[in-house]
Amino acid sequence: MLTMVKIILILIRKALRRIEGKYQYDYDVPEYDIWHMMIDQDEQGRGYGSKALDLVIQYIATKPFGDSDRVALTCNKDNPAARKLYESKGFNATGNEDEDEIEMVMTVQ
Ligand SMILES: CC(C)(COP(=O)(O)OP(=O)(O)OC[C@H]1O[C@@H](n2cnc3c(N)ncnc32)[C@H](O)[C@@H]1OP(=O)(O)O)[C@@H](O)C(=O)NCCC(=O)NCCS
Repeated sequence: MLTMVKIILILIRKALRRIEGKYQYDYDVPEYDIWHMMIDQDEQGRGYGSKALDLVIQYIATKPFGDSDRVALTCNKDNPAARKLYESKGFNATGNEDEDEIEMVMTVQ
């Protein structure tokens, strides 16, 4: 299915370093970050975004780069379609905001 998606740009931040046998993350909160999720305009509304997010969450659940179970992303306040999609996957707003972006997080098992 995903071979039909023209452009998906999802960057999972994986900047981890091993220090003294433990993982250390770039930022204060150990987490997997999903950045810049986009589906080609001509392919939107066909279920690809939902499926892509399912696959990314499944992958993160394998803890490929470290043991954190926290997954975070940001969503523009004026993007109800994206917010609805994220909420349907279990993301909730944390209350943290940066300009027009709200932070949303979920926990993977
Ligand atoms: C947001 C985005 C990633 C969703 O991907 P998509 O493939 O279009 O979404 P899907 O077809 O998988 O639909 C998933 C849900 O999103 C919602 N949705 C998608 N497009 C929508 C639209 N234009 N208006 C309202 N809701 C919409 C639907 O509620 C849908 O849930 P449903 O199937 O229960 O109705 C995609 O539209 C996109 O790339 N948009 C432009 C970039 C962007 O805004 N990225 C998000 C940055 S935070």
